[in-house]
Amino acid sequence: MSFKVTVLPANREFTVEPGQTVLDAALAAGIVLPYSCRNGTCSTCEGRVVSGEYDAGPAPARILDAADLARGHTLLCQAHPASDLVIEAREIRMADDIVVRKMPVRVLSLEPLAPDVMEITLQLPSAEAFRFQPGQYLEFILKDGSRRSYSMACARAEDHRVRLHVRHMPGGLFTSRVFGEGAEPLKPREILRIEGPLGSFFLDPDDVRPIVFLASGTGFAPIQAMIEGMLARGDTRPATLYWGGRRPADLYRQDMALGWQDQLPGFRFVPVLSEAVAGDGWTGRTGLVHQAVMEDLPDLSGHQVYACGAPVMVEAARRDFVKSCGLQPDAFHADAFTSVA
Ligand code: FES
Repeated sequence: MSFKVTVLPANREFTVEPGQTVLDAALAAGIVLPYSCRNGTCSTCEGRVVSGEYDAGPAPARILDAADLARGHTLLCQAHPASDLVIEAREIRMADDIVVRKMPVRVLSLEPLAPDVMEITLQLPSAEAFRFQPGQYLEFILKDGSRRSYSMACARAEDHRVRLHVRHMPGGLFTSRVFGEGAEPLKPREILRIEGPLGSFFLDPDDVRPIVFLASGTGFAPIQAMIEGMLARGDTRPATLYWGGRRPADLYRQDMALGWQDQLPGFRFVPVLSEAVAGDGWTGRTGLVHQAVMEDLPDLSGHQVYACGAPVMVEAARRDFVKSCGLQPDAFHADAFTSVA
């Protein structure tokens, strides 16, 4: 049985077919609600059910707090209606020409950026325009049907090519192939299948508040795309990038980030290491990357934050920035991928 869902405050309606989640049905109807992982781990799709019955699944109880659950908050990527629903959720403005598609892609090159980070360049079919917002991601659909998510590390598909940053997860089905291990290493010319672009992690063009970009490890990839997008548009909003890693090799594109300081007035780059040792010769900031933000900007009430990286870092930043630095909850935008090998 299908059910009607009304989204407040925009007062938009769509129908959820049997088996669909609220999020999937909204996206199919062209209504973009915030989302990232689509598997109940990141909480980006949190919304509130104002009225109606639904099956929330087990995920919300694991990641939302009890008070919010009692007020009807749930994860819309997991929720299945059992009656017509009225929900509250933020709607995202997406360019009309961005269409989610499945397509074959050819591996063009594999270039190591660090001992455990590989940049993959993919050649997209020349007949298809692959348009996306800088910050969005794509999914590889593997032969067994499982999926792996990677953000585009570029602002647009120049010459029908996109670049991704893949971190090595030892023993994993996909990333081991990327790093040339096992019986079937990934090689240039191999054809893979993708779906994209996906996600709602991209800059709000109408929000003029100063931006804090927060990245750990390969969470740099979508941030690189966003900043390259700012460069291309001549977007001079004040912005600071805090990029955290354990050791210097984790900050594998420091030169690029330092270069942005010369190209974008108002842009600042702050690299932070959490496990620097004497032999690293590191003279920069140390500690947890989100704490470096809090030291520099104890009042974040007038800022917006775009964070991508390890879920533990993203969640600590969300909690501490809102509780201790006065950040408006809706000014925190995040992409937190669980690392799947
Ligand atoms: Fe729903 Fe991540 S928890 S999109």
